[in-house]
Amino acid sequence: MFHCLFSWVCIKALLFCMCILPFALTFTLTMAQAKDIKSESILSGQVLFQKKCAVCHGNEGAGGVGVPLNLNDFLSTTSDYYLYQTIKMGRPGRIMPDFAVLSEEQIQSIIHYIRSWKPEIKAPVYSRERIAGDVSKGQAVYESICINCHREKAMGGKGTGVTFSRPRDAELIAPAAGNPAFLAAASDQMIKKIIMTGRESTPMLPAKSMGLKEVDVDNVVSYLRSLENNTVNNPSNESKSDEAVLMFESSYSVEETIENIKQAALGYNFRYIREQTLNQGFVDKAEESNAEYLIYFCNFTFLNQALSIDPRIGMFLPFRATIVKKGDTVLVMTVNPDYLCSMFNNDELKQSCEFMSEKYEAMLEESTL
Ligand code: HEC
Ligand code: HEC
Repeated sequence: MFHCLFSWVCIKALLFCMCILPFALTFTLTMAQAKDIKSESILSGQVLFQKKCAVCHGNEGAGGVGVPLNLNDFLSTTSDYYLYQTIKMGRPGRIMPDFAVLSEEQIQSIIHYIRSWKPEIKAPVYSRERIAGDVSKGQAVYESICINCHREKAMGGKGTGVTFSRPRDAELIAPAAGNPAFLAAASDQMIKKIIMTGRESTPMLPAKSMGLKEVDVDNVVSYLRSLENNTVNNPSNESKSDEAVLMFESSYSVEETIENIKQAALGYNFRYIREQTLNQGFVDKAEESNAEYLIYFCNFTFLNQALSIDPRIGMFLPFRATIVKKGDTVLVMTVNPDYLCSMFNNDELKQSCEFMSEKYEAMLEESTL
């Protein structure tokens, strides 16, 4: 009897080892492998996020120039498809640049990283089914409530996110919900969900608190959808200024030219910072005796204004000009700020840059004529 029982247990154990265990093992292994791949992706996503996004969206998506990305109401209402398209397309004419240069895998890894902040929140998936609301009724709702923040035709609030030049508790600026790229990335169902839910701890209230019923929300979604043909002025596409480098021929000697620039800078509200020679090692032996100078100057009002719009502007400020003697001619060369600004996806910055570039050009022209 005992023997019998024993062998029965043995057989069972043997069966378990032979049949179930391998499955169980393979299963746990695959799970572990998948987890490894996932955490690897999260890691590379983190690196990419820090390099490309944190400057605006803050570390861990806490928000900055760009809206916060780590809010529960954001993560629980936006789909991965929406994140993917938004990262890829950006928001033309707004500060959010496009990242079309990133590979699909890279964008996915950024999304994995964003999702890793709140793993308990599952990314929703939406059907692409259109909502058949009443556009004109939706427009009426929009123009009585939403327009106060999202502005005419939902083109978005002026400025961006919580710009760091302003107090931290300043109102978050409303994004462009009528931007063609937003509407291409977001389904009607998702937009409805966002409006119904609102975003806690931001000025974006849930529909109920705005006094709206579900039918009003349907109507306003259809109104937003009707804005798909909104035209945006995308400076990066029509890059108005095509010269990357400005060059002026000076009628003066190198020293005189530098003096002239210093004088002119004052009149144009630029502060002269410093100069340095730049010949060693970079030019032919024969030319080494010819002076080459690098001079730096800055307009602090512009600098602060531009930085508050987009901190990446710091990459090419303060302005610097190179003064070189080539044979008998003295040349002043500088990067065209207007050209650089065209690389940024932003109307406001572009306007401010155009104004500054004009002054900058006029100053250098005056110093060399
Ligand atoms: C130069 C600043 C800047 C950079 C860099 C930037 N963003 Fe943005 N982003 C913004 C702003 C501003 C908005 C709000 C858009 C608007 O005003 O319409 C935004 C919006 C978004 C949105 C939509 C938010 C919402 O509420 O639906 C997502 C998602 C996003 N950004 C992700 C990213 C990711 C990921 C990166 C890096 C790959 C990135 N952004 C880089 C400024 C930036
Ligand atoms: C008091 C200002 C305010 C009002 C009024 C307001 N919103 Fe918003 N809305 C915001 C802000 C700010 C955000 C960004 C919140 C965040 O993600 O941090 C936002 C986000 C959104 C988004 C998400 C867009 C995106 O790019 O992420 C949609 C869609 C939206 N609002 C639609 C509406 C509609 C429709 C109404 C009117 C029924 C409305 N909002 C009323 C301030 C407002």
